[in-house]
Amino acid sequence: MSIHHHSRSATACVAALALATCCLPARAAPAPRTLQQAVQAGARSFATDAFGGHGSCIACHSHGGVGPGALPSGSPLPSLQGAAAQFPRWRGGRLVTLDMQIAHCIRGALGGTPPSPDSARMTELVAYLTALSRGRPMGLQLPSIAPPSGHAAAP
Ligand code: HEC
Repeated sequence: MSIHHHSRSATACVAALALATCCLPARAAPAPRTLQQAVQAGARSFATDAFGGHGSCIACHSHGGVGPGALPSGSPLPSLQGAAAQFPRWRGGRLVTLDMQIAHCIRGALGGTPPSPDSARMTELVAYLTALSRGRPMGLQLPSIAPPSGHAAAP
């Protein structure tokens, strides 16, 4: 009787432990309250987040992306300073935005699952990378932009 009781509470205890270790989220940093905190959250994710895969962005984009990058094989990659100012781009027959490039690296380089474009984690990464382009001229390679013709087409 008492053994039965004991084993039941042991079971409950194991279940509680399993819940605590597998199902509750790790204690997260407080949600950002300013642009600066959002950029810092992006910097943290850049350096530490595996997005369900392996490693983090700094495995290839060193010093938080500021330094010259390199693939694990040693092939050089450009610094990410100024990279955000080069988006969107036309590549492979389609328009590629900064968050699509980030998602591409998360999928391909980390083997992870990219957060959705409007999630806090993705928008914070975009904010961080955009901060690394502060003061850089927007680099879209376009000859000129024709403004829409306004009311000209109205009947
Ligand atoms: C295994 C190495 C590797 C990792 C890890 C990696 N990347 Fe990349 N990244 C690349 C390579 C290679 C390129 C350039 C070619 C391409 O787009 O695949 C690139 C390009 C980029 C670019 C565009 C730079 C430019 O000037 O065109 C951005 C932005 C970027 N990565 C962000 C990230 C972010 C954010 C992470 C982490 C979520 C990350 N990368 C993780 C290898 C990596």
